[in-house]
Order: sequence, then C-alpha cells, then structure tokens
Amino acid sequence: MSRDVITIRRPDDWHVHLRDGDMLAGVLPYTSRVFARAIVMPNLSPPVTHVAAAVAYRERILAALPAGPNFTPLMTAYLTDATDPGEIARGYENGAWVAAKLYPANATTNSAHGVTDIRKIDAVLARMTEIGMPLLMHGEVTDPTVDVFDREAVFLERVLAPLMVRLPSLRIVLEHVTTRAAVKFVEDAGPNLAATITAHHLIINRNALFQGGLRPHLYCLPVAKREEDRQALRRAATSGGAKFFLGTDSAPHPVKDKECDCGCAGIFSAPNALEVYARVFDEENALDKLEAFASVNGAHFYRMPVNRETTTLVRREQDVPREVAMVRPFLAGEKLGWRIA
Ligand code: NCD
Ligand code: ZN
Repeated sequence: MSRDVITIRRPDDWHVHLRDGDMLAGVLPYTSRVFARAIVMPNLSPPVTHVAAAVAYRERILAALPAGPNFTPLMTAYLTDATDPGEIARGYENGAWVAAKLYPANATTNSAHGVTDIRKIDAVLARMTEIGMPLLMHGEVTDPTVDVFDREAVFLERVLAPLMVRLPSLRIVLEHVTTRAAVKFVEDAGPNLAATITAHHLIINRNALFQGGLRPHLYCLPVAKREEDRQALRRAATSGGAKFFLGTDSAPHPVKDKECDCGCAGIFSAPNALEVYARVFDEENALDKLEAFASVNGAHFYRMPVNRETTTLVRREQDVPREVAMVRPFLAGEKLGWRIA
C-alpha cells in the first residue's frame, strides 16, 4: 500500500455529541461529510429518555443536514433510575433507537438525570439482554473519594465486572476508554464487550492539560491519563482487533463555556477526527488497520452492514482553524499531515 494515499470504506462514528438547535446546525456538517452513520448521544437537556423524544430529535438532525453525502443518525436512549423496560424495548423494536446509554449520575455533561445505582435498572438491563440491544457505558464511578484519574479503573471492578457476571450475554460498549486497565479488561472479556477510542486520547496524555498553563480545550471526560495509558490505547486501536472501534466523542461547547471559572468537559474533534486517526495509524505503521478500526469493527459489533462507499485520505498538510461554529476544534492552530481527498 502506498504510504501517501489510503482508501478505506467510508467510516462511521460510533459515539458523537451533535447537540441541538444552532449548535446542531453548526457542527453536524463536520460529522455528516465524513461519517456515513453516527451513534448520537442522548445527553441533551432535557435528555432523550423516551421514544417520542428520540424520534423528534432524529427529525431535527435530518432537517439540519446539509446537502452532501448520505448520513444516517443512529439514536440512543438515555437511561435514568426511572426508565421503563417496556419503553426501551419498544424503541429498539420500532427502530427509534439502536442502543441505550448509561451515564452514572453526575459523571459528565448533562448527566444529572443519569443512573444513581446500576442495580436500579436491573429490569431494563435484563430486558435489553433478552432482545440483544447494546448498552453503551460512560465507564467512570462518581464516588468523590475516588481520585478522578482512577475513576475508569475503579468502574471496571465495581460496576462492569459484576454486571458481566449477572448478565453475561448483555452486549456492552465501554465508551471512550482511556486506560491500559480498560484495554486489558476489554481484551480479556468475551465477544459481548467492545470499546470505542477517541482521536484525542490517542494524541494527548494528562500532561497536555497543563502544558505551559491550564488548557481548557483539552479537558474532557474521562480525562486523559498517563503516557503508558495512551500507548496502550494506540496499540489497541491499531491492532485491527475486532473489539475496538472509532468513536470520536466529539463534544462541542462554546468557547465561553470552556474558558471560564468552571469550564465544561468535552473536546470538539468532528472537523478533523478522521485525519487525526490517520496520523496515529501512520505513526504506528498501521495504516492497513485503519479501515478495520474506522469502518468495519463497529458495524460488525452493531450487526449492521459495512458501508459501500469509500473515502480516500492523502498525506497533505492542512491547518486546523482556531474556531469552527464558535467552538475551538481539537488541535486548533496546529498542522495536520493528512486530509480527506
Ligand atoms: C461530553 C459532553 O460534553 O456531552 N463531554 C465529554 O467530555 N466527553 C459528555 C461525555 O461523553 O462524557
Ligand atoms: Zn460522549
């Protein structure tokens, strides 16, 4: 394969925040021009907890779509302590949503209505297991006595491992893994557990948050971890292994909400995520594995067909703008070595 041009099946983004209203209109084109499908996170305010809300949100996304390549939003349900198993199953069976998202209460942006104790949704998870509906997890404990950098690793022990014993056939995606511990946990588990990996966690470690001063635009949740964790993520993503796939977790917040007293968590990577992944795979001498990660593994896990269109990336420098849709994109002001042809 040429080292300067790579053609892959058109990719999908298995974890993205598209927001709503003006922000939706501003950010959606960056996802829809690149990705054929995207798993759309339900953490709006109010969150997408019911079938009718998912159907209406999907309509708003379709109405905001610019002309261009086909794009299919795949909707998700936001689980709360009060979620009704019948509602979750009804939305899955009628195609309103394809998965349900577990936010531990107060773990991240717009998660105040999330689940306070996973045992409160036992009946929902049992029903999801029966019908084969995937559970998507924000894998961090919220116990304030647990160090913020340990919250993912502690979640594996306290929440995920016991859940997998209770419901071994529940299909689970551990979203945006950030640690070596999570990579190993996923690798050691059976085929019902998979994970998404963001572009930014392949590039930055936690030092980047404090490089020369406080860097609010590199703050996201789960927060970036140590260099050894980043290296483990790079190995997992570029391995070609079926359990790891692309999920940008592109999470735009207006600049003013990042640069303030209590800045929001979220990195906006939609404008250049695919190019960033290409750079990582290139650096790891694994461009031949990019298609599996970006365009095949996720579709297989979700039991959907792979895309038939293709996307070509070329090695060519491009500048990342300082601001896009009133949001600072990931690597703003820097140069990228790849671009979409
Ligand atoms: C996300 C957001 O802003 O909605 N933020 C983030 O840092 N990733 C929420 C999330 O996925 O945790
Ligand atoms: Zn997210």
